[in-house]
Formats: sequence, structure tokens, C-alpha cells
Amino acid sequence: MELPFAESWKIKMVEPIRKSTREEREEWLKEAHYNVFQLKSDQVYIDCITDSGTGAMSDRQWAAMMTGDEAYAGARSFYELKDTITRITGFPYVIPTHQGRAAENVLFSALVKEGDIVPGNSHFDTTKGHIESRKAFAVDCTVDIAHDTQLEAPFKGNVDIDKLEKVLSENKDRVPFIIVTITNNTAGGQPVSMQNLREVRKVADKYGKRVIFDSARFAENAYFIKSREEEFKNATIKEICREMFSLADGMTMSAKKDGLVNMGGFIATSHEDWFEGAKKYCIPFEGYLTYGGMNGRDMAALAVGLDENTEFEMLQTRIHQVEFLASLLDEYGIPYQRPAGGHAIFVDADLILTNVPKEEFPAQTLTIELYKEAGVRGCEIGYILADRDPVTRENRFGGMDFVRLAIPRRTYTDNHIRVIAAALKNVFDRRDRITRGVRIVWEAELMRHFTVQLEPLA
Ligand code: F0G
Repeated sequence: MELPFAESWKIKMVEPIRKSTREEREEWLKEAHYNVFQLKSDQVYIDCITDSGTGAMSDRQWAAMMTGDEAYAGARSFYELKDTITRITGFPYVIPTHQGRAAENVLFSALVKEGDIVPGNSHFDTTKGHIESRKAFAVDCTVDIAHDTQLEAPFKGNVDIDKLEKVLSENKDRVPFIIVTITNNTAGGQPVSMQNLREVRKVADKYGKRVIFDSARFAENAYFIKSREEEFKNATIKEICREMFSLADGMTMSAKKDGLVNMGGFIATSHEDWFEGAKKYCIPFEGYLTYGGMNGRDMAALAVGLDENTEFEMLQTRIHQVEFLASLLDEYGIPYQRPAGGHAIFVDADLILTNVPKEEFPAQTLTIELYKEAGVRGCEIGYILADRDPVTRENRFGGMDFVRLAIPRRTYTDNHIRVIAAALKNVFDRRDRITRGVRIVWEAELMRHFTVQLEPLA
């Protein structure tokens, strides 16, 4: 008989987790103002709030930590990291930062000014925040099919080239760069095809613009290119990565995802002027150029993590688990952004809590119900996260309203995945009786979802 699929690693260290009662969870939620970011992690049984910094490191990464060089200047661990990044991406200039948003802060400080327009595919919220806080505008040029959650298409993270070209032709002098997020987190962890990256490059060249990849999940994107684009079916993940990055001028990276570390990030680029521009901001914001907010040991672990996670078996194991969760939801008839994303399943709350009006935040309501049901913590990627329009201050209800179930790398087993799916099914089965959502009691001006305080309306 054919052997079943199994993980490409075995477990060497475990961390106990604890279940709780529904009464406990109801009390904890109230104390947390119905915002799951305010819960203590001990109050969570299975944590799907993010795949960022929540993965398990390998024995080789832990071993590398012991040999990290903590020199303030010129640390060996920096050069090991830099060489690895250059080998995988082709970019010769590297600046470490403490995480992805810090890379955005440093690079955008040099590149973005008031009134600029930065087109891209569903900018992540910190990316959008770093653009809007500089009084510039993030223009979303994602393909329209990304909004049809039930449509099966291989590359729903793509940039709509016509939309991009329109922005460029109408605002040529106001665009400092184009940013492409691989994979497209906000649209559901959906990949961007190599063909699309090539088309973006072509349009960028036509208008004399540079391109940045927001690369938090670039290795997962490469996996999808290998499995869905005929031209690359025999290429290695590392070959695909080199090809992808050859189409960009630089990258910002949250290493907490595809770098397989708990904290870290970097900027890499092929342009000396960008490097020089960013350097000036790295030193005051992050630290000296050969550590930029990271410990030597963390840079050492990241170098190993980048290498490991650009190998096919590692990515296959990961994506297989996310697809397993999707297959269970299919069995229960629960709608999500199809096909399964690389790092998460994005449950379509709009299609589930049809009795809860938009103004009462269906995805947030579903997040709360899922936590109450089983202590499973998801994350709203919807109308609360979308923040208000910077000009009109109205809520932005134009996008999608998801509960994201992000799967940490190498952390949970398939049995945990079964619990997540069953908990969601129990909520799904009583969806018709959920008729009221939540209202905002307090919110921050930008990136409100982390600290928003809510009140249930029922
Ligand atoms: N870009 C993308 C596509 C991201 O998903 C994130 C973070 C960042 C940039 C910022 O990186 O967290 O290291 O500062 N995403 C996390 C998430 C928080 O849960 O999706 P960071």
C-alpha cells in the first residue's frame, strides 16, 4: 500500500498546554474587553492568532544560537546571515532590523514622503500604517478574484496589472516604489505567480519605478509557484527564490514567519542608494548596522532558519497541515478563502454570520464565539483591522471580513488541527442563533485591532 504523508521532522522538546472551562473563558474575555489580543496566552488552549514568531526552531537553530557572536560591531553572525540572505535572494546589501515593521520603518523613512502613492497588493496593516503615518497613500491593486472567496484559482494574491498601470500613469511622479506582498497575507495567504511578478517588473520598468517585495512568506510563495506553475515544477525552492527576487529591487522581511525565528527582520537590496538611505535611519531607530536590533545568536538562528525553510520537504510538511485543516472545513461545509492559503485558513465570516450586520463586526463576533467554544484563538482580519479611512474617518467595510486561523510552523500536531476544526463546526452549527455582534467602546487612531475595546450587543 502507498505510505501516508508524514512530517519531515520529529519532536525533541515539548511544551505543555492546558484546557479551560467555558465559564473561565467567558470571564477572561470580559476582562479582555472582547479583544483576543488582550488575553493572556495561558488562557488560550490552541493559539492560531498568528504564525509570526510562534514556530518551533530546529535543533540546528538552537545549536547555532550557542555559537552566536555578540560583538557590537562586525559580528561573525551578521556576516553569516548576510551571506545566507545574499545566496537566497541575490541582494548584496543587507540591514538587519528587530522585526518586519522595523524594516518598513527604516526603509520607508528614506523613501516615502507626504503625498506619495504606494501601489501594491493588499498592503499588510503595518505596511499601510507606515505609509499612511507619513501622510502618503497605499493603493490596493489586488486582482478582483481575491474577493470571491469561493472561487478556486491558483494565484489569488496577484497584482492586477491594469489597476497598477492606471495608478502609475496617473501619478507617475508621486510613486516612490511598488510593493508586492508575497504571499498576500491580507487576501488569505494567497500566492503571487512568477508570471505576475514578471508583469509587475515590466510595468515598473516602463515607468522607471522600483519594486519592493514584502517577503514575510516568500518561501511559501515559492512552494506554490513550484506546485502551480508548470515552468517551475522541476525547479528547487532556492532556484525559484533567486528567480523571484531577481524581479525586485529590494525586500523588507519579517523573519518571524519564513525565517523560522521568534524575532527578527531585515532589509535587503541591490541598490547602493537605498542601502545608504536606509543606513541613516537604522542607526538611530534600530542599532548599529551589523546587528540592527537583533542579538548575534538570533542572527545565527535566522541564517539556519532561512536555509531550512527554503527546502521543499519543510514547506511541503507545513502546507500539507494547512490543507488538512481546509479539508476538514470542506467536510463540515464551512466557507473560507479558497484555496487554502500558505500560512492560514481565512474563514469567511460574512458568509457564516449572515444575521450579524457589518456594523457589528461579524468576523470579530465569530472570533469571540470560537474562543468561547474551545479556547481556540483566531484573529479578525476584517473590518476592525481595516481601520478607518484616513480622510473621511468612516469604517472601511469595502474589503473582506475574515477570521484567520494561522498555523504556527512545526508547533501543533494534526490532532490539534482536528480540535480547531471541530470547535469551528460547533459554532457553525448554531450560526443562525447568533444575531448580534459587538460595538466599539474605545479605539486607537491607527492599527486599532491590537487594543480596541469592545462590548457584546446581545
Ligand atoms: N508584512 C507582512 C505580510 C506581515 O504579515 C507582517 C506581519 C509584517 C509585514 C510585519 O512584520 O510583525 O515582524 O513586524 N504579520 C503578522 C501576522 C503580525 O500576524 O500576520 P512584523
